[in-house]
Amino acid sequence: MTDSTNKKLAGKVAIITGGASGIGEATARLFADHGARMVIIADIQEQLGQQVAASIGSHICTYMNCDVTDDDQVKALIQSSIENYGQLDIMFSNAGIISKSDQTILDLDFPQFDQLMAVNLRGTVSCVKHAARAMVENRVRGSIVCTASVAASRGARRRTDYAMSKHAVLGLVRSASKQLGVHGIRVNCVSPNGLATPMTCQAHEKSVEEVEEIYETGRVLKGATLRAGNIADAVLFLASNDSELITGHDLAVDGGLQGW
Ligand SMILES: NC(=O)c1ccc[n+]([C@@H]2O[C@H](COP(=O)([O-])OP(=O)(O)OC[C@H]3O[C@@H](n4cnc5c(N)ncnc54)[C@H](O)[C@@H]3O)[C@@H](O)[C@H]2O)c1
Repeated sequence: MTDSTNKKLAGKVAIITGGASGIGEATARLFADHGARMVIIADIQEQLGQQVAASIGSHICTYMNCDVTDDDQVKALIQSSIENYGQLDIMFSNAGIISKSDQTILDLDFPQFDQLMAVNLRGTVSCVKHAARAMVENRVRGSIVCTASVAASRGARRRTDYAMSKHAVLGLVRSASKQLGVHGIRVNCVSPNGLATPMTCQAHEKSVEEVEEIYETGRVLKGATLRAGNIADAVLFLASNDSELITGHDLAVDGGLQGW
């Protein structure tokens, strides 16, 4: 547990999309540990999300079902968060998916492409739009953080749709930060390199240990394994006042990625 004098989010209300699993779950736990007044996990995995919220504590964390591909659901998520908890200080737009097939340009499957773009890109745009509108309306100098990826600034040998969606998230973060600065709202993103989460373990069809080994080979930093908690630490930094003069930034958490 974090010492009460060092709680970086005391009194804050935060929404985390994709908060039922992986990076989102680790961030929900860290935000709660740092004194957030309420952490709202928004996801489509209802049972898991409820379990995670209950394990953090119902006085500090709650689950709301929200499919980010549906703009009305995102709008309702933000409205009800404000109705129930009085404010929205932090939006962590993190929900994301990988297509089942490799999605090289020669074999690109459009139904998978459309679904991925609906979650990774359109969903993120919805979250940023409605969170920003609520912050402006309520005069909150909030922090919006998106999960991009190291694939946001590099070409990829496969998963073209994923790399494209994350490039676009970076464009959104950079543009929104310019437009929202006048309201005191900061917009940044974290860009992880590969780490073992349900998303990547399923994509590789491998165990956590095997996935960690695959990703570790590409890093300059040796002897440390990139885990969801490392990404959560970076999100906490961007969400809290520790980064009060940082906006439009893409914070890579990649252990010094080399090659690609
Ligand atoms: N794991 C990695 O190596 C890695 C690397 C770079 C970026 N990322 C990004 O990190 C983010 C989190 O991924 P993760 O690795 O923690 O995976 P994860 O599968 O553990 O978590 C993703 C969460 O998003 C939720 N989700 C999916 N579609 C949704 C929808 N339509 N509406 C609401 N929620 C939805 C899932 O239910 C899940 O709980 C994603 O944006 C991903 O692209 C992950």
